[in-house]
Amino acid sequence: MNSAQNKPTNRANTYQQAPSMAKRTVILVANSKGGCGKSTISTNLACYYEALGRPVTLMDLDPQQSSLQWLKLRNSDYIHGIGWPAGEPISLGRLQQRLDQAGEIVIIDSPAGLDAHQLDHLMRLSQIVLVPVLPSPIDIRATTRFLQNVMLTPSYRRRPRRLAVIANRVRTRTKMYEALRQFLSSLKIPYLVTLRDTQSYVQAMSRGEGIMDAAVSRHLDDKQHWRLIGEWLEVQRHLIQAMPGFR
Ligand SMILES: Nc1ncnc2c1ncn2[C@@H]1O[C@H](COP(=O)(O)OP(=O)(O)OP(=O)(O)O)[C@@H](O)[C@H]1O
Ligand SMILES: [Mg+2]
Repeated sequence: MNSAQNKPTNRANTYQQAPSMAKRTVILVANSKGGCGKSTISTNLACYYEALGRPVTLMDLDPQQSSLQWLKLRNSDYIHGIGWPAGEPISLGRLQQRLDQAGEIVIIDSPAGLDAHQLDHLMRLSQIVLVPVLPSPIDIRATTRFLQNVMLTPSYRRRPRRLAVIANRVRTRTKMYEALRQFLSSLKIPYLVTLRDTQSYVQAMSRGEGIMDAAVSRHLDDKQHWRLIGEWLEVQRHLIQAMPGFR
């Protein structure tokens, strides 16, 4: 594992006290559709925060535990992993219990096919939701339904969360990319970036690495995508902290 090359050198503050609920930001990465990049986005986001020297909690709710397997390979001092045993119900109480052990920034990698109750529990505890979408008609339809379901959850209806879409595995100059762009521009939800379809993501996932690691990608554009996502998240975090009732 060579991500150490890119790790911040000051490790003095890697472990932090559990922050109060009011200070914690929970970023849910979700889509009911399988294989759209939830784990890839969760792990790369964790790397992004690690590269900034900011401790982050990566909670993996998927019984496949892909994100936690990635984290074991990475052996990071900055990323704290929380798993979810297969068969354990995703209930509000259990989620809250796990979040009580988490740091200030929490990324939740969720499984495909969440039911309405699970989605509502997760929405209740999250402030920001990132929704990956692939450029295919099936994925676009599934994502449309998922976004509707998110907005219909009692938690969202009580208090809208910050939602954003990330286009993933995109090859520009294809008809499907055009269809995806039309879909994204029709949404009243921010569309943050378009991630390339590249083996760099596949290889990074299998080695416990991320695009922000110096050795993984020499493509500055790929790194810039993560900076844009990170900057958008930071603005949302500030808005959430600053505006009472946003939480
Ligand atoms: N931008 C990308 N370019 C190329 N391959 C990618 C990209 N993003 C994800 N992949 C690959 O696509 C597959 C599915 O990605 P990933 O596991 O992140 O999706 P997921 O939504 O977490 O899936 P699941 O619903 O099964 O949990 C993986 O093999 C991953 O390496
Ligand atoms: Mg996954």
